[in-house]
Amino acid sequence: MILRKGNIFLLQTKKSSYFMQVLPTGHIEHMHYGASIITANQYEEFLKNGGAESELLSDMAKVLAIKHKNEGGNMVVYSEESYPLCLEVMPLEMSGFGKGDIREPMVELTFDNGASTCDFLFESAEISDELTALKTLPCSYTDEEKAEQLVITLKDSSYDIRLKMIYKVFPECDTITRSAILINNGKDTVKVDRLLSNQIDFQSMGYQLTSFHGRWADEMGKTTSVCNGGKVVNEELAAGESGSRSNPFTMVSMPDTTETAGECYGFNLVYSGNHYSSLSTNGTFLSRFVSGIQPTGFQWALGPGEEFEAPEAVMTYSGDGFGGMSRMMHDFVRKHIVRGYWRDRERPILINNWEATYFNFNQSSLLRIAKEAAKAGVELFVLDDGWFGARNDDHAGLGDWVVNTKKLPDGLKGLAEKINEMGLKFGLWVEPEMVNKDSDLFRAHPEWAVRIPGRSHSVGRTQMILDMSRTDVQDYIIDALSKVFSSANISYIKWDMNRIFSDRYSLELPAERMKEFQHRYYIGLYRVMRTLTEKFPQILFEGCSAGGNRFDLGILCFFPQIWASDDTDAVCRMDIQRGYSYGYPVNTQGAHVSAVPNHQTLHTVPLETRFSVAAFGCFGYELNLGELADTQKKQVADQVEFYKKWRKVFQFGDFYRLDKYRFMVVAKDKSAAVALIFQKESRPNNDYLALKTMGLDEGSIYEVANRQVAVNVKEFGSLINTMAPIHVKQNGVIHNIIARHYKMSGEKDEAVATGAMLNGCGLRLNPDYGGTGYGEDTRMFRTGDARLYVFARVTE
Ligand code: DGJ
Repeated sequence: MILRKGNIFLLQTKKSSYFMQVLPTGHIEHMHYGASIITANQYEEFLKNGGAESELLSDMAKVLAIKHKNEGGNMVVYSEESYPLCLEVMPLEMSGFGKGDIREPMVELTFDNGASTCDFLFESAEISDELTALKTLPCSYTDEEKAEQLVITLKDSSYDIRLKMIYKVFPECDTITRSAILINNGKDTVKVDRLLSNQIDFQSMGYQLTSFHGRWADEMGKTTSVCNGGKVVNEELAAGESGSRSNPFTMVSMPDTTETAGECYGFNLVYSGNHYSSLSTNGTFLSRFVSGIQPTGFQWALGPGEEFEAPEAVMTYSGDGFGGMSRMMHDFVRKHIVRGYWRDRERPILINNWEATYFNFNQSSLLRIAKEAAKAGVELFVLDDGWFGARNDDHAGLGDWVVNTKKLPDGLKGLAEKINEMGLKFGLWVEPEMVNKDSDLFRAHPEWAVRIPGRSHSVGRTQMILDMSRTDVQDYIIDALSKVFSSANISYIKWDMNRIFSDRYSLELPAERMKEFQHRYYIGLYRVMRTLTEKFPQILFEGCSAGGNRFDLGILCFFPQIWASDDTDAVCRMDIQRGYSYGYPVNTQGAHVSAVPNHQTLHTVPLETRFSVAAFGCFGYELNLGELADTQKKQVADQVEFYKKWRKVFQFGDFYRLDKYRFMVVAKDKSAAVALIFQKESRPNNDYLALKTMGLDEGSIYEVANRQVAVNVKEFGSLINTMAPIHVKQNGVIHNIIARHYKMSGEKDEAVATGAMLNGCGLRLNPDYGGTGYGEDTRMFRTGDARLYVFARVTE
């Protein structure tokens, strides 16, 4: 809800408040963002007293407004009339350079006379139930849940240029978004050197910024820095993508915030290009968080009558620690970012041929993989890279979206039909934004590749980027892909993007506009994505960028899920998926079971672990199932059956990080839950562990059971001789015969307990193997082992 009294505004979600007022000068003072400052009773009173006529908001503003009565030493006073107002000490909704606020600005402009001072002052405000959609960029929306919007328009005190600040309030998921639109009503072109999306002035120091960093196949490592002076930055400077080096999602919290308690703010951007966020203090008592398009390398010439839109910024506040914030962010992403046919639908279990075959496949080998997958109950077959043009390795073919009939003699149509006959849906990989020098497309249109005339071009994965800022390139891609998508019964598309930017340039842009290129690329890309997803609404799209190099809310506005990492090793994936979980829900993260030794790390972990970790994502397999032993094929079929049974809980439940290596999902109605425990490093001696849950309904009774994992005696190696009457040679004939005929069922943990017990005390688990004995109920829990536990409510 949005309350207004004159020029005082309160944006209210279920558990948070955002409070601001217009100062007599026209600047907007930010008075509070955080825990709710109005109770239900006060709100009732407010309404009884005539709403906007009530004095409540003015009384609250008197409490929270800065009592600024003295000119600050060595500070700039804004104006004679407003003496002693120094903008430097004011918490503000937006700042520009030049009038005394010397902190990190949200806006930087250069006017035609070369001056770069701007001074935006309040002009008008409007509250409505209708949410504004941005014209050039994707943004949040609502359909079922009520949301409201406040638009505050500011005008520069000297120039005819306006800044519209749009605030959307999503009460149910405690989320508020902001976007900014600059409108040039003047006669001269204004250079926009930066237009960030968000500025939050916190009224104390000592906050910490948590951001997520990494590299290819090693995304989302969590880093936290306290800011007590100076500046902490999270940015993707020049990759040209939201990036595996620095994801745009960040958190601001206090050093004593924990997973379950304390103040935590989550921030993100609905944007896929270079981004910038910072938390700074300037030596006063204030801290400032800003975020938006990366200003380095950016400039936009805003002509008379033109508008420039900054991407939407998302923020959520929770007083219940990192976990509470994450669950709010997940709800927001699932309901107000992801959209369309697949938003609320369970995602299919897929088999992808990439790690099974790489480029080396033909129709028969694909059909063999599909057949095994169909037998196991898998629902979708995905044909990855290599099906088109002269694409036999990664040196050629990108851009030529025509099926290679040498490999696939029946074309995509014939292959899809055969796959469909097996009971599987058919999906396909594309990488539309790219071109190889060795391709028909490049030979026909060398001017479409991003490169600088007269300068040698630096490539990545031997490919070049198509200039998506050009309408002819966008139209070509829309047309070429529409033909592919209509050429067969295609249910799923994996949209890849495998290199970062270099040599940024567009032949269509004049020199003075070249710094617009990177942002124009995304405006063009979003147009293509919007057109294709609207044209093929039932196709399930999965984003990908060499794994998680473009995992962001911009992509999720079009594609409901994104391949989280090219690292399919379950041990690494625990860390990577935990990193994503801070800002992104489980059902946005693609996760697959792959072969061992793992292709990225050479780790070997059990099939059960690979399954358990991948189940906390959009689940699939990426290996040649036909090459598994019969017992493993049975295990796969069992996993598929299990996942289907609990899929809704995995994909749409509330997610909890129980600790670093334990996850849990709880159905929204609390009727069921699944927990994962993972052994990062086993140690001897018995650890009598408890599984302490979160999120179960305290008053309900649950039946708990683990997924039993059969143990092969060979896993004990030569220890078999401590029990065998004769000496058994490790891996010898007798050892193999025993292993074939004697199966150990694995420990069973079963219980009936109240949610209160399970959340409060936890379930005491059977002991893990610790070097001093082994019984039926001992859990083999070696480094890299994992267990899943299911909770089914029996009474409410
Ligand atoms: C990178 C992706 O992340 C992989 O999954 C695979 O699709 C390859 N590209 C194919 O080139």
